[in-house]
Amino acid sequence: MSYAAVNEYARSMPELLLVANKLNKRFGGLQALSDVSFSICKGDIYGLIGPNGAGKTTLFNCLTSLYAPESGNCNFMGHQLTRLQPHEIAKVGLARTFQNIRLFASLSVIENVMIGRHVRSRAGVFGAITRNRATREEEAAIEHRALQLLDYVGIADRANDVAGALPYGDQRRLEIARALATDPVLLALDEPAAGMNASETLGLRRLIEKIRDDGVTVLLIEHDMKLVMGLCNRVLVLDYGKVLAEGRPSEIQRNPKVIEAYLGLGAAAASGGNPDTAAAPTGPGPKSAP
Ligand SMILES: Nc1ncnc2c1ncn2[C@@H]1O[C@H](COP(=O)(O)OP(=O)(O)OP(=O)(O)O)[C@@H](O)[C@H]1O
Ligand SMILES: [Mg+2]
Repeated sequence: MSYAAVNEYARSMPELLLVANKLNKRFGGLQALSDVSFSICKGDIYGLIGPNGAGKTTLFNCLTSLYAPESGNCNFMGHQLTRLQPHEIAKVGLARTFQNIRLFASLSVIENVMIGRHVRSRAGVFGAITRNRATREEEAAIEHRALQLLDYVGIADRANDVAGALPYGDQRRLEIARALATDPVLLALDEPAAGMNASETLGLRRLIEKIRDDGVTVLLIEHDMKLVMGLCNRVLVLDYGKVLAEGRPSEIQRNPKVIEAYLGLGAAAASGGNPDTAAAPTGPGPKSAP
């Protein structure tokens, strides 16, 4: 193969962004994650699904150093995430939202985004006290960027409202704006459509596509299967902390093990794994005893 051909081949290869290797997390007697390995490529909208209690949020918490896994590692653009402190995660380009919305409810909408932006600010304690010119200019730039982001997620008209007064769907958009304020390479969303109606969910889908088109890779935990299967190019299925399946949405939808985990043995047996007769999972599955 010629040098040019090798170069062309290398360019066509997807760029690995995150490689998780055999992550294990235990809570007392409960193995919440068991040898979980997967990889995310640049440009992916990577879905993470599984029944309630499967370990999805625990995986997010391990990736973002809120929990320390007992073993395993996770390489993110050359950084070992499991060795970083939680406050260092955003600096290396990984931002997240939370399943239970975590906003400063009594601060304004724009202040919530500005807080996210401070990860990238340079003014130190000295600048904050003296409020010198450089600090004032940086504050103005942060405010400007925060307004741009509110516009980007579609809630610029609420900039000066108190965050806690926003409708639920707008609070989720605000969390996304705050995460984007850190200039992430990878944005991890934990159930962003939870509590949204059909039209809000459609708007969210458009927003996530726009985020991906603008160069941010997305990791998405979601129970809304229509959203996951329509948006994601790859999907990882967890069940009782173990990887049940990984692949393209079309492969996942016809995987009998996935159908069983979501809908129970009856549905899997009835479909025989046949994609034409198998019912696609539509929501969070039952959480039966392991
Ligand atoms: N801090 C904790 N201490 C003890 N057990 C925990 C803790 N966090 C999670 N767990 C347990 O670990 C398991 C996985 O929980 P996790 O929240 O990761 O599930 P999930 O897949 O996000 O579920 P859901 O879809 O309901 O959000 C559950 O059995 C849960 O009770
Ligand atoms: Mg969860």
